[in-house]
Amino acid sequence: MINIFKKLIIIAVLMGTTLFAGSNKGITIPYIDFPMKEGKGMYSTKGKCNMCHSFGYVTNQGLQSKKFWREKVIKMIKVFKAPIQTDKDIETVTNYLFENYGNGKLE
Ligand code: HEC
Repeated sequence: MINIFKKLIIIAVLMGTTLFAGSNKGITIPYIDFPMKEGKGMYSTKGKCNMCHSFGYVTNQGLQSKKFWREKVIKMIKVFKAPIQTDKDIETVTNYLFENYGNGKLE
C-alpha cells in the first residue's frame, strides 16, 4: 500500500516539475560585475581588455609578475586579435595590471 502511495507522490512531483519547466517566463541572464582597482591606466585597460570578456578573467589569475602580464597582453593581441597596436599601449596596460594585480616580481 505504502509503495503505491509513494509512487503516486513521485508521479505527481514529476508532473509538477515538467509543467513548471514548460513555462520559462522570467528567465534573466545574470550580469556579474568585476570591479577594477582604481589606478593609472585603468580606463585604457578597461577599454582594451573588457570588450571580449569580463575583467574576471584577469582577477581570476591572482597576483602575477610583470612578465606574466606582459605575455598575457601579447597573447591577447596575437591569438585573439585584441586591438592594441602600439608598444606604448602594451606598456600602459601591462603597468596597470602589474601595479594593481602584481606580485611585486618582474620575472
Ligand atoms: C579580441 C578579444 C579579446 C580581447 C580584446 C582581450 N581578450 Fe583576453 N581572452 C580572449 C579569449 C577568447 C580568451 C579565452 C577564453 C576562453 O578560453 O574561455 C581570453 C582569455 C583571457 C585570460 C585567461 C587566461 C588565458 O590565457 O586564456 C586572461 C587573463 C585575459 N584574457 C586577459 C586579457 C587582457 C589583460 C586583455 C587586455 C589587454 C584581454 N584579455 C583582451 C579574448 C580577448
